[in-house]
Amino acid sequence: MSTDNKTIDILLLGSGGREHALAAKLAASPLCGTLYIAPGNGGTVQVGENVALAEGDPEAVADFARETGVGLVVIGPEAPLVAGVADAVRAAGISCFGPGAEGAQMEGSKKFSKELMARAGIPTAAYGSFTDEASALAYVREQGAPIVVKADGLAAGKGVIVAATLEEAEDAVRECFQGAFGAAGSTVVVEECLTGPECSLLAFTDGKTVLPMATAQDHKRALEGDKGPNTGGMGVYSPVPIVTEDELSAMKKVMLNTVAELAAEGIDYRGCLYGGFMLTNDGPKVLEFNARFGDPETQVILPRLKNDLVEVMLACAERRLDEVELAWRDEWAVAVVLTSAGYPGSYEKGKVIRGIEDAEAMEDVTVYHAGTAVREDGELVTSGGRVLAVTALGDTFEAARDLAYEACEKIDFEGKTLRRDIGLRALRGREAW
Ligand code: AMP
Ligand code: GLY
Repeated sequence: MSTDNKTIDILLLGSGGREHALAAKLAASPLCGTLYIAPGNGGTVQVGENVALAEGDPEAVADFARETGVGLVVIGPEAPLVAGVADAVRAAGISCFGPGAEGAQMEGSKKFSKELMARAGIPTAAYGSFTDEASALAYVREQGAPIVVKADGLAAGKGVIVAATLEEAEDAVRECFQGAFGAAGSTVVVEECLTGPECSLLAFTDGKTVLPMATAQDHKRALEGDKGPNTGGMGVYSPVPIVTEDELSAMKKVMLNTVAELAAEGIDYRGCLYGGFMLTNDGPKVLEFNARFGDPETQVILPRLKNDLVEVMLACAERRLDEVELAWRDEWAVAVVLTSAGYPGSYEKGKVIRGIEDAEAMEDVTVYHAGTAVREDGELVTSGGRVLAVTALGDTFEAARDLAYEACEKIDFEGKTLRRDIGLRALRGREAW
């Protein structure tokens, strides 16, 4: 427990690049006492104390927080949110950043979020939702391809199939109902296929006040030219230069209206609401909501945020976000993700990582760890598919991008893989879509 009354001890759940970025920003606050990260990674140990804790077990998390005298719990990933960890923490009388199980349905069930969007008049793709294969197949045939098939529940980013042909769509429906995504696929949402550039807009909320953050754009596909399988994200930048003022205000309105609808329906949503948008010719439409910060979006958004993150998160948790005003650095941020060869398929672990200090010695460069671990002999080694995110800030988009790639060159590990075209399309302007 912190020994003075000016700081509070914090428990952060998660182990990705997002959590390293969150941990670094929390630790930088004068309000932060001891920072525990459960389970954390090879980067979070540099800014806090990694602890072994069943992050998805509500009672285990609440017990740990109570026993260690933690004053704020911050939940990084979706699984603990959907499992109700925030509810247990709040029931223990401890402030928590992250929605309870009900609010987390915005991410945990595509059907739930589509129905809420319909009630609130939020622009999104037309859809049908099905619990049996025959009706889903009939709908797919009636609508025709291209069409999008989504497993309803959490599927670690793999439950969305954008089908170019009817055959692909039918296969996707069958796969879902045959259990390819486990229980997540027992309800299937079939959606109209939208086109346009994608843009994420995250917002802090306490359930009443909504403070949108800066825009960001992820690169989900594994290969250059947006080809290959979907990944957790290969690179990202913020803000998104191609977004018009009108589009930005439309997206902000969606975030406000969505939180207002949650509140009107009696759902207590405190934390981050992530809107994934497609900028269609008919204006921005919602592809999905997430109940948490994005990964790797966080790795470009937080370095641009001027505010004290502990203050902002406490204000969300304590429902006084109206006291906060967000401020952003003017610089552009670009992050390139370094992955293990083979990702998102199978890959080897345990490769020694060199050169992070050289990259970080460069002004305006930060290296966030994702799949890294410290070996018994003290060497930093790879331990996951997405290994590092290298973030650079620059006065222009191009300068940030060049700096990020220059920094990537300094880092080495066997099998190091990266996309060389992060931000390239945006640099070419809207016509590139
Ligand atoms: P999600 O996990 O819902 O964000 O979907 C993953 C990706 O699938 C998105 O980032 C889009 O690239 C794509 N996607 C999802 N829904 C649609 C849609 N209705 N139309 C076209 N692409 C979509
Ligand atoms: N970057 C996509 C996500 O966090 O879901």
